[in-house]
Amino acid sequence: MKIIAGNWKMNGTQQQLKTMISDLSSVETQNTVILCVPFTMLTTPSDKISLGAQDLSRHTHGAFTGQISAQMIAETGAKYVIIGHSECRQYNGDTNSIVRQKATNALNNGLIPIICVGETMDEKQAGKTMAVIESGVRESIPSDTSTPIIVAYEPRWAIGAGLTPTAAEIADAHNLIAKTLSDMGLGGTPILYGASVKGSNAAEIMSISNVDGVLVGGASLKSDDFIPIITSVK
Ligand code: PGA
Repeated sequence: MKIIAGNWKMNGTQQQLKTMISDLSSVETQNTVILCVPFTMLTTPSDKISLGAQDLSRHTHGAFTGQISAQMIAETGAKYVIIGHSECRQYNGDTNSIVRQKATNALNNGLIPIICVGETMDEKQAGKTMAVIESGVRESIPSDTSTPIIVAYEPRWAIGAGLTPTAAEIADAHNLIAKTLSDMGLGGTPILYGASVKGSNAAEIMSISNVDGVLVGGASLKSDDFIPIITSVK
């Protein structure tokens, strides 16, 4: 059984989400399907799949115009929240320590954080991939938790680019994340792969060691693209 999570980013409408939920309701799968959608869609009823948000405030409440707290997200009935996505690190200045604060807020409110780590192209070319992944895990993830979390390895240079690392590179990254999580007392935490996942590569990627599922951007927007990913593995 795998975890298949979609990330709609700033795309879609409430009607499109209703259509997607209805398309997914007839899909036979044992996999856990999650859709992380814009805040305004989080109250959409969905019985077979779980909804998640894509970010949250590092603060718990107060004078932070425009921000949304973990408690507010939990109140919608959403179960998950992506934290530290590459685009939030790039455009909103999220650092590992901010990601950790956000994840703590999520956990304190009963949300399951999907915490993203991964290297940029510059870091890859400088031979720093493994160091960036390990420090990302150690610094972004609260280790003093007994509540479930999910980690996503997303090579930042491959997101939305139609590029993917080799199977060996994905295996190295996921094995390192699994070992680091185990050192931190978080062994068994699911580790998703994300970046340019599609129907034609999903099964192969999910057959790699320590890949417990995928985080899908562009290919999660249309059911014709998303359903083949969900059904590509048992
Ligand atoms: P992509 O995005 O599947 O479009 O590459 C992945 C992500 O940003 O989580």
